[in-house]
Amino acid sequence: MELKEQINRKKLPVHVAVIMDGNGRWAKRQGFTRVKGHEKGVGAVRDTVEAAAELGIKYMTMYAFSTENWNRPKYEIDALMKLLVRSIHDEMKTLMDNNIRLEAIGDLKSLPVKSQRELKKAIQTTSVNTGLTLILALSYSSRWEIVEAAREIAGKVAAGKLKPEKIDIHTVTASLTTTDFPDPEFLIRTSGEYRISNFLLWQIAYAELYFTPVLWPDFTKEEFFKAILEFQHRERRFGLTSEQINGLEVKKKHKTT
Ligand code: FPP
Repeated sequence: MELKEQINRKKLPVHVAVIMDGNGRWAKRQGFTRVKGHEKGVGAVRDTVEAAAELGIKYMTMYAFSTENWNRPKYEIDALMKLLVRSIHDEMKTLMDNNIRLEAIGDLKSLPVKSQRELKKAIQTTSVNTGLTLILALSYSSRWEIVEAAREIAGKVAAGKLKPEKIDIHTVTASLTTTDFPDPEFLIRTSGEYRISNFLLWQIAYAELYFTPVLWPDFTKEEFFKAILEFQHRERRFGLTSEQINGLEVKKKHKTT
């Protein structure tokens, strides 16, 4: 049976986060410049997004450009920004055909004006779509986001609008750039690196982590389906015992049948 057919559509993660890594190493191995690796990476973005939409996954966040990436050589930053504008422009038909809504998180004001404009246009045009929500993390880092949230909360306290003792998990969650989206249950990282790299640190508190040696430009729909199957074989316990979880499953079954 094909991998896709083995996936249980009733047990899909609602939100998948992806750290796309290995473009540079892929390019080096082929004797190309790093930029070629990013260009090839766009194809893997398309395949993965289509695969998620085909399965009926509701949210996917992709780490396209981190705060730390601004420290890369200027030619690479410029190429990535151009690629982003071109890809969003070229992929509009794919987004509309697949009923995909585009969103973005990060310090978007720090992006070149042209990138901001293209992004805003695509977000507006796709806002009518009701299928997968594709969230691009751009000029994003978790620590940046948490500092911003702390500032916002401190501002409310200083203005007398919020009492410090009223600050709880929900206050912080509501101040993050991801406030409109559920937390990811599944995080995929390619290229054999076992790191989180400042990505959605608060939001992945209970996410299952999946690491694959495949370099991002080689990541395919089949690789995505393989990862989802692995997710479906994990037992998610949220701090409870295995027996408690199984007990809850039995109760749920009795309730619905
Ligand atoms: C990491 O590989 C990848 C990036 C920093 C950029 C990801 C961007 C794309 C896949 C293309 C554009 C994206 C969209 C959403 C249209 P790396 O350069 O760190 O690879 P290395 O670790 O092998 O050097």
